[in-house]
Amino acid sequence: MFCLAPSLLSADFARLGEEVRQVVAAGADWIHFDVMDNHYVPNLTIGPLVCDAIRPHTEAPIDVHLMVRPVDRIIPDFAKAGANMITFHPEASEHIDRTLGLIRESGCQAGLVFNPATPLHYLDHVMDKLDMVLLMSVNPGFGGQAFIPEALEKLRMARARLDAYAAQTGRHIRLEVDGGVKVDNIADIARAGADTFVAGSAVFGAGRDDDPHRYDSVIAALRAQLATVHR
Ligand code: DX5
Ligand code: ZN
Repeated sequence: MFCLAPSLLSADFARLGEEVRQVVAAGADWIHFDVMDNHYVPNLTIGPLVCDAIRPHTEAPIDVHLMVRPVDRIIPDFAKAGANMITFHPEASEHIDRTLGLIRESGCQAGLVFNPATPLHYLDHVMDKLDMVLLMSVNPGFGGQAFIPEALEKLRMARARLDAYAAQTGRHIRLEVDGGVKVDNIADIARAGADTFVAGSAVFGAGRDDDPHRYDSVIAALRAQLATVHR
């Protein structure tokens, strides 16, 4: 039920293929892929060409987090590059409904991302078009920031909405959290309702560069924390 999605943002960009193989071998479930455009957020990262380049290195789902504006033009490119999930920020799309539809038509799972100050009411009329909801627990743009504690209350609110929707429809929407997730807070985050956890610096900062098993112990430690959580 719990899913770990290490964020490549803190990986070694000169050795991305190897980083992806090592983190999946260590037990990562998904690869979280942060796309920043120096426009919607003040940083610039990686795009569809890099997604396409890492695709042959793993069968793990690639979870593309778009921090770009506009959104729609780039979606088919990521689908062709092998993305499995694509999420975007509602403030960055002119037509949220249309963007969600476009992601699904491209063959990917679709999700909305909420900044710490973005209200959950964007969920109100699009639940049927969502496969996942991503709550930011930092303001987007950079790795290595501290978890914002208010995100726990927002997770509880989102969990209640998604549970009510599942009770009504039988359809389960994932609840992912992104930013400042570490070994020492992941259990509390899970208790607040998250089922999918992005961790960048906590994972890719671990161990020594020359150790091919450098990610094993941090992934095991994250899982051990999750094993203490019973919801
Ligand atoms: C921030 C990104 C995150 C980031 C998380 O804008 O969306 O995915 O990589 O990094 P950590 O886990 O270091 O906070
Ligand atoms: Zn992200």
